[in-house]
Amino acid sequence: MKVLLAGGAGYIGSHTCVELIEAGHSVIIADNYSNSCPVAIERVEEITGTKIPHYEADVCDPEAVERIFSENEIDAVIHFAGLKAVGESCEKPVMYYRNNIDSTLTLLEAMKRHNVNRFIFSSSATVYGTPKTVPLVETMPTGTPTNPYGWTKLMMEQILSDTAKANPEMSIVILRYFNPIGAHKSGRIGEDPNGIPNNLMPYITQVAAGRLPQLGVFGDDYPTHDGTGVRDYIHVVDLAKGHVKAIDYSSDHTGTEIVNLGTGTGYSVLDIVKAFERVNHITIPYVIKPRRAGDIAECYANAEKAEKVLGWKAELGLDEMCYDSWNWQSHNVNGYK
Ligand code: NAD
Ligand code: WQD
Repeated sequence: MKVLLAGGAGYIGSHTCVELIEAGHSVIIADNYSNSCPVAIERVEEITGTKIPHYEADVCDPEAVERIFSENEIDAVIHFAGLKAVGESCEKPVMYYRNNIDSTLTLLEAMKRHNVNRFIFSSSATVYGTPKTVPLVETMPTGTPTNPYGWTKLMMEQILSDTAKANPEMSIVILRYFNPIGAHKSGRIGEDPNGIPNNLMPYITQVAAGRLPQLGVFGDDYPTHDGTGVRDYIHVVDLAKGHVKAIDYSSDHTGTEIVNLGTGTGYSVLDIVKAFERVNHITIPYVIKPRRAGDIAECYANAEKAEKVLGWKAELGLDEMCYDSWNWQSHNVNGYK
């Protein structure tokens, strides 16, 4: 299948590109490089030995998107192109709503014009809000997101399910990611956040690389086994393989399917720090800080639906996630720069 990856130069998109090519699909990337750079695509080409057609394009721009659809016979779209920093979304809500929702609408309009009916969407566990119970199951009601970023994901889930209802030929697969970490085993592609990382693993790897002095652990008084926040960390290569399964699934599916992509296991912040230290033989200095606003105690998936519906299950464990994250960072101390 020929798959358009909107936002395909980013962290999850670049890894998905590798897995799609290795599974025999062909890919086209559209990215405006607002949070990535073309070097990531060159690295994917190097890993796969395949030239990747790519467009520097804002997928909110109808003319740019029309050109991509006119020049290529696209079978399916995977939409990664979103802004994703929770804190920034509180400071610049209009920018987040404009980018994340407009990009989705613009892609859907082009798909309708060109009779492309398969759409895979990057959603997030954030749509569950503050969970009453864990693990999180897809049938649980969505919650109230605590920030505009989360609202964009919830709103887009609604837009997509309405779109599928109105078009009986359409297949929409909404993937709710938990916490992706890790990197491709080559160490050539990985997560390269702008500025000081908000997320735990890139913060740890930058402490390990000497770019940051110490980790702040946000709260040690949560009702968890060691008091620190628990999350469902998933290796980005497993996550990428989930998209290949979703693409395969969409070829004889119509309607909307919502699927968690997580491992089903929760680890605390200190579990991650200890595993990282053990696997990589590096000490991570840390201090306990107050809780971060908007954080929840525990969030992990019930991952059964992905296995049942997509035939997908996470295979890589915490040690591989820690090893591969450091392998990427240590060989690319300043990311792609
Ligand atoms: P990323 O920032 O690395 O990748 C997103 C890519 O989209 C970047 O390359 C960026 O330049 C591009 N982009 C953004 N707006 C664009 C636009 N208007 N036109 C063209 N390109 C645009 O982020 P990621 O971690 O790879 O996340 C991919 C998707 O998954 C996002 O939608 C994100 O919200 C979602 N998600 C990520 C996580 C996570 O923890 N990384 C968790 C849940 C959901
Ligand atoms: C994980 C744990 C922190 C940094 C966010 C978004 C979510 C999704 C994934 C995107 C928490 C603790 C973190 C640090 C710490 N994003 N922590 N010190 O908050 O689960 O999810 O990213 O699309 O929508 O909300 O991930 O990696 O920020 O935090 O102690 O410097 O690590 O408190 O318990 P989170 P995270």
